[in-house]
Amino acid sequence: MAWAHPHLLGIADLSAADIVDLLDRAEALVDADAGTLLSGKVVVNAFYENSTRTALSFQLAAKRLGAHDLSMSVAYSSVVKGETLADTARTLDALGADAIVLRHAVSGAAAEVASVVGCAVINAGDGTNEHPTQALIDALALRRRFGNLAGLIVAICGDIRHSRVARSNMLLLTQLGIKVRVTGPPALLPDETPDGVAVMSDMDEAVAGADAVMMLRVQHERMPDRLDLPLDLYHERHGLTEARMRYAAPHAVVMHPGPINRGVEIADALADDPARSVILDQVTLGVPVRMACLAALVA
Ligand code: CP
Repeated sequence: MAWAHPHLLGIADLSAADIVDLLDRAEALVDADAGTLLSGKVVVNAFYENSTRTALSFQLAAKRLGAHDLSMSVAYSSVVKGETLADTARTLDALGADAIVLRHAVSGAAAEVASVVGCAVINAGDGTNEHPTQALIDALALRRRFGNLAGLIVAICGDIRHSRVARSNMLLLTQLGIKVRVTGPPALLPDETPDGVAVMSDMDEAVAGADAVMMLRVQHERMPDRLDLPLDLYHERHGLTEARMRYAAPHAVVMHPGPINRGVEIADALADDPARSVILDQVTLGVPVRMACLAALVA
């Protein structure tokens, strides 16, 4: 099936069929040598916020597809001389970029770039808005573990309000028939959620019977004031502990998009449990998922 969208700005723009198409493309690339699919194409990573997983896996994805991958170092770029985001994007486009992969602190930044360039734009996380490739990774990790996704229960726990991962996952997982629950401290719950998402104040209730428990980091960098809750109390009330995990289904998996704050939102024993934690599988799947997205948009 030909890919119909010029950019990947958010899950909100995708149908269920689009999502399944990208997951199928990614699955086909898990062990494949994609060789020269993007030979001669130019993929530019422009990360205005820090990243380990997303930046490196997009680089690796571009390399595995045979593209020229360039990483713009914002700190050493003309951004520090006052160049606007739109002018930087036009410059990358004029240099021959076939795709710009953008991470930025401002919600809507990827859409702004898409409005001024001719090349494809992939949103690698914009403010509190969306992180679509992370949600695709998470869905693929669930599909590889459970097969059929419809009817699964996924509890997303922690800082939902400031999390672009939570927003993209709420949009994506509900489209695929997953029952999504979100929970966290009252100050970190969202004002609005997509249809079909249950907001729960009690974490034990949210985790009860869940097939997957997805933990999220507190996004201090997006809060005007620090959360008024000591870390040990946060862990006790809102963290994933061994005791709390016993409420989940016996086969339940532990997820986290990373980076992890150990001992805060998740206990070491769960993060490192090879039988239950799929956290490193999520990282590994970042490469084929991002290969699939680049190939769909650029090939
Ligand atoms: N999950 C995620 O986006 O991680 P990075 O910030 O390391 O890219």
